[in-house]
Amino acid sequence: MENLLYEKSDSIGIITMNRPKALNALNAATLRELDSLLTAIASDSAVKAVIIRGGGEKAFVAGADITEMQSMSAMEARSFGKLGQMVFNKLENLPQPVIAAIHGFALGGGCELAMACDIRIASEKAKFGQPEVMLGVTPGFGGTQRLPRLVGKGIAKELLFVGDQIDALEAYRLGLVNRVVPVASLMEIAIAMANKIVSHAPVAVQLCKAAVNEGMDMALDSATAYEAEIFGLCFATIDQKEGMQAFVEKRKANFAGK
Ligand code: HXC
Repeated sequence: MENLLYEKSDSIGIITMNRPKALNALNAATLRELDSLLTAIASDSAVKAVIIRGGGEKAFVAGADITEMQSMSAMEARSFGKLGQMVFNKLENLPQPVIAAIHGFALGGGCELAMACDIRIASEKAKFGQPEVMLGVTPGFGGTQRLPRLVGKGIAKELLFVGDQIDALEAYRLGLVNRVVPVASLMEIAIAMANKIVSHAPVAVQLCKAAVNEGMDMALDSATAYEAEIFGLCFATIDQKEGMQAFVEKRKANFAGK
C-alpha cells in the first residue's frame, strides 16, 4: 500500500493514514486502499479490534484531497463521494470495534472518517471541523448525517454552517469524542482500551456493535426485538457458557471467540 500502513500487535490491527506531506488528505487511491484493507481485516478472525491513526506530527486527516477534487466534474465528484461513503460505511459496520486515535487535524473528510469509527480518543492538540462550505461544497463522506447523530441537529448545523475548527475539549463537551488525553499517551491509551475490549468475549462485542448500529436506524420496538434475537444468539456461543461458568467459579473467563 502506498498511502496506508498496517501492522498487527497481538490481536489489534493498527491502520496509519500515511500521506503526511498532504496531512493525510484522502484521495481516491487512499480510499481504495482502505477499502481493500478493511475487506481483509473483516475476514481476519485473529484481529479482534482496530485502531486508526494519522501518520506524521500534524494531522489525523485534514480532509478529502482538495487538489484532486478541484477539477472534478459533477459526476466525478458524485462518484468520489459515493466511494468514500461506501468505504466509511464498511468501516462503521466492520465486525471488529474500531477506535480512532486522533492527534491533530481531523477536518472535513477526516472528521467524517473519525465519526465512522466506533470510539474516538483525541489528544489535547486535536482539532475538529467541517470546513467544506468555505470551499463551496458540503461534506460528502457521511458528515451531514453522522454529525447530527452524534452531537444533535442544532450543534451539527452550527459546525456545518460556520465551519470553525473546534479544539479537543470542545469536541468532548459536544459529545464528538469519547475522551481527551495527553498527546504523549494517545496511542498507549488507545491500545489499552483496545486490549480491554479484546479481553472480553469477541462475539458478544461484535454483537453489541451490530445491535447499536442496526438498532439505531429502527423504531424502538423493532430495535428491542432485534436485541432479544441477538441476546438469544449469545447463548449459542461457547463464550457465554465460559463467561457465566467462570463467574460462578469465581475465576477469570478464558474466551475462545466462538
Ligand atoms: C490536499 C492538503 C489538504 C487537503 C492540507 N493539505 N490539507 N492537500 N487536501 N485537504 C496540504 C497542503 O496543501 C500543504 O501542501 C500541506 O498539506 C501542509 O498543509 P499547510 O496548509 O501548509 O499546513 P498548515 O498551514 O499547518 O494548515 C493546516 C490546515 C490546512 C489548517 C489543516 O492545511 C487546511 O486548511 N487544509 C484543508 C482543510 C480542509 O478544508 N478540509 C476539508 C476538505 S473538503 P504543500 O504541498 O503546500 O506543502 C472535504 C470534503 C469531504 O474533506 C467529502 C468529499 C466527497
